Amino acid sequence: MSERKQIEISKEKIEEQDKFIELLHRTNEDYFNKSGSRKTYSLVTYGCQMNEHDSEMLISMLESMGYARSISEDKADLVIYNTCAVRENAELKVYGNLGHLKSVKKNRPDMKIAVCGCMMQQPHVVEEIKKKYRHVDLIFGTHNLYKFPQLLSDTFGREKMLVDVWDVDGEVVEGLKSDRKFSVKAFVNIMYGCNNFCTYCIVPYTRGRERSRLPEDIIFEIKELVSNGVKEVTLLGQNVNSYGKTLEESKKITFAQLLREVNEIEGIERIRFMTSHPKDISDEVIYAIRDCDKVCEFLHLPFQSGSTALLKKMNRHYTKEDYLNIIKKAKSEIPNIAFSTDIMIGFPGETDADIDDTIDVCEETRYDSAFTFIYSKRTGTPAARMENQIPEDVKHQRFDRVLEVVNRISAEKNEEYDSKIVEVLVEGSSKKYSDIMTGKTRQNKTVNFTGGGEDLVGKIVNILIKETRSFSLNGELVEIIR
Ligand code: SAH
Ligand code: SF4
Ligand code: F3S
Repeated sequence: MSERKQIEISKEKIEEQDKFIELLHRTNEDYFNKSGSRKTYSLVTYGCQMNEHDSEMLISMLESMGYARSISEDKADLVIYNTCAVRENAELKVYGNLGHLKSVKKNRPDMKIAVCGCMMQQPHVVEEIKKKYRHVDLIFGTHNLYKFPQLLSDTFGREKMLVDVWDVDGEVVEGLKSDRKFSVKAFVNIMYGCNNFCTYCIVPYTRGRERSRLPEDIIFEIKELVSNGVKEVTLLGQNVNSYGKTLEESKKITFAQLLREVNEIEGIERIRFMTSHPKDISDEVIYAIRDCDKVCEFLHLPFQSGSTALLKKMNRHYTKEDYLNIIKKAKSEIPNIAFSTDIMIGFPGETDADIDDTIDVCEETRYDSAFTFIYSKRTGTPAARMENQIPEDVKHQRFDRVLEVVNRISAEKNEEYDSKIVEVLVEGSSKKYSDIMTGKTRQNKTVNFTGGGEDLVGKIVNILIKETRSFSLNGELVEIIR
C-alpha cells in the first residue's frame, strides 16, 4: 500500500473516534452540570520519549472528552498507566501501582483503570494482569492508541476487563493530534518501530517494524508547531540514522537530507534528534550537524559497551574502534560538540576486562552525560537465553565502577563552563523557585538563572555561569539575544 493511501486510511480511522470523544464529552458535561465538579484523570508515563509523546496524544484525547487533570492518582476517576518494558524495574512499578489501586477501587467502584504502552504488547504481561489484577478495566497496546476513546467508552456498563492489543506487524494508524507539554519544545516522530533486534532489547517486539513517516508530513507538522510558538523540535526515532529506508523510491531521502530540510523552516530556533545508532550514522549526518545553524551541537550516541566481543553478542554491528572513529570525526568537524550515551552493565558473559573497555570509551569520548543501565533479562529476547548471566552483586559492583567515572567526567565537563557566557533557550520557571528561570544550552545543559521572569520564555538569552553542579549550571542573565 502506498504511504499516501495509508495516511488517508489513518485519517478516516481517527475521525471515526470523534463520535466517541463527543459521546464521552456529553456524559462528562452532564456530570459537571449536575455535580459542579469535573471527572478527572491521572496519567502516569514510564519509559522513553516515544511513550511521552504517546501520552501527549492521550492527554489531547482526554481533554477533548472533558476530563480534567487530577491532583492525585487515588482520587482520579480514570487512572492510566502508559508502561515501558525495557527493564524489569519499570514493569515492577506498574504491578505495584496496580496492586495499590485494588483497595482504592474497592472504596470507589466507579473508578476506571486503564493500562497501555509497551508492556501490553507482551502476551505474558496481559495474561498476568488478567489473572492477578482483575480490577483493571482496559488494556490496549502501542499500535491502537488512536482507538482509546472508543475503548474507554466501551468500558462503561461492562463488568469484564476489555483487552485490545494489536500484533506488532499489524496495521499502522498515525497522524493523531497531541497536546504539546511545552509551548517552547515539542517532540516529532519521524519514524516508528525498530528493526535492529539488539539481543537484550524488547523494543522491536513492542513497537513493531521500522517505518519512516513521509518527509512532507514531518515538515508540515513542524511548520504547524512553529506557528503555535514552538522554538525547538526533537526528531524522534529508535534509530534516526536509518530514516528513509522504508520510503517509496520517489520519496526517499536520508536523515542528513531531512535535517537540512528541517533547518530551512523559518521561525524554528533549534533542532535536536534521538536516538542515533552508531552502525548507521553517516559522515553526511555529521556534516549536516556542522553546517545547519539550527541543528544543535549535541549527539546522543549510545555505545552500550566498549568491548567489541560483547558488542557482537549484543548484535550491535560496530566495534570499539568504529565507535571511537565516529566520535573522533564528530569532534574534528563540529567545534563545541557535546556527547551523551547509554551504557549497559552486566550483559551475559561480561568480564572485568570488558568493563575496562567501556571505561576507555568514556575517558576518550568524555561524555557530558551518560545513562548507565544494569542489564535486565527480558522474556523472549535472545540474551535472556544466553549462558553466563552475571550475578546481581557483580553487576552492581561494575555499575558503581563505571558510574564513578561517568560522574567525574560530567562534573569536569560542567566545571569548564565556570565564568563563561552560554546561550540558553528559556523554557520556564524552575520547579522549586518561581524567581529562577530555567532553560538549556545548545549542548543540552540545564541552566538555572536569576535576573529574568516569565516574559523570557521562548527567548534566546546569554547567561553568565556563576556556579557549576554535577547535573546543572547556575548563572545570571546577561542579555536577551532574540
Ligand atoms: N534505540 C535506542 C535505545 C532505546 S532503549 C538505541 O539503540 O540506542 C534505551 C536504552 O535502554 C538502551 O540504549 C539500553 O542501554 C537500555 N536497555 C535496553 N534494553 C535493556 C535491557 N534489557 N536491560 C537494561 N537496559 C536496557
Ligand atoms: Fe533496542 Fe537496539 Fe532497537 Fe535501540 S536499536 S530500540 S537498543 S533493538
Ligand atoms: Fe520506550 Fe520503553 Fe517502549 S524505552 S519504546 S517505552 S519499552
